Amino acid sequence: MTNKVLITQKLLDSCEKAIFEKFDATRLYEKADRDAFLTENGASFIAIAGGNVDPALMDRMPNLKMISNFGVGYDSIDTAEAKKRDIRVTNTPNVLNDAMAEITIGLMVGLARRIPQADQFVRQGKWPGGNFPLQSELTGKTVGIVGLGRIGKEIAERCQAMKMRVVYYGRRKQTGIPHVYYDKLVEMARDSDWLVVITPGGAATDKLVSADVIEALGKDGFLVNMARGTVVDEAALVDALVNNKIAGAALDVFEKEPQVPEALFGLDNVVLSPHQGSATHQTRYAMGALVVDNLSAFFNGDPLLTPVV
Ligand code: DGY
Repeated sequence: MTNKVLITQKLLDSCEKAIFEKFDATRLYEKADRDAFLTENGASFIAIAGGNVDPALMDRMPNLKMISNFGVGYDSIDTAEAKKRDIRVTNTPNVLNDAMAEITIGLMVGLARRIPQADQFVRQGKWPGGNFPLQSELTGKTVGIVGLGRIGKEIAERCQAMKMRVVYYGRRKQTGIPHVYYDKLVEMARDSDWLVVITPGGAATDKLVSADVIEALGKDGFLVNMARGTVVDEAALVDALVNNKIAGAALDVFEKEPQVPEALFGLDNVVLSPHQGSATHQTRYAMGALVVDNLSAFFNGDPLLTPVV
């Protein structure tokens, strides 16, 4: 078997360098005419590094056996179709838990204490004219975590360090978890001051945070989305923010990235972040290394390190 790897998206430099050193690699994303390239060469590739793999791309790569995704979320890969075609899929879990949890707390504090606005207040010379208005704080508040997985648990731990009460919603109650469990998201939203969304994206969670959930969070509630834009009903969220139906939102992800609903730009009750949950040097390096290690394991015939299919 050859070790030809097709790179579907721009990856971290260190990751691409290692892929080129270890395998016979090609960057699809650099090809001016991807279609013509795939027609001529698609059948020669055994593996993909990166995401954005739909059945149409699989059709063009009849010998594809492995997809090593860069990211813990693999919603840009049709895993059901991959399974049908005996294509293995791996992701990059765990190595990003701390970075994700860290920025979640950062966004929460930024939103509650209005750090972006306070920065502008000082820079614009407004301070001598009077003090910045008083803000709310996290201490003593209840945070409802939507998806208490590996990252959710790290967020929960840090929320506890902020002296918050943690509750959670998920498909099922987990054993050995001290936090109160809700099987109805609307009910958790009603009982929470903060809702932090960190559940996987994809069809199963599409618009899970619905207009009803947002309404239940209420005018004093804050929403933080660290998962995928699709998990929240974005139109309902924009409406709630514009009309002060909730207190505010911190958003790292959006439905049509990198497009962000323009209505959010003029709002004072949002903190916007360009999908950078895992974007630190050390974490992205570790994610890249895991992409390469999964490819190596595959070509060596060893068990995959972090398989999802
Ligand atoms: C992932 O790995 O899926 C995250 O969205 C990166 O921030």
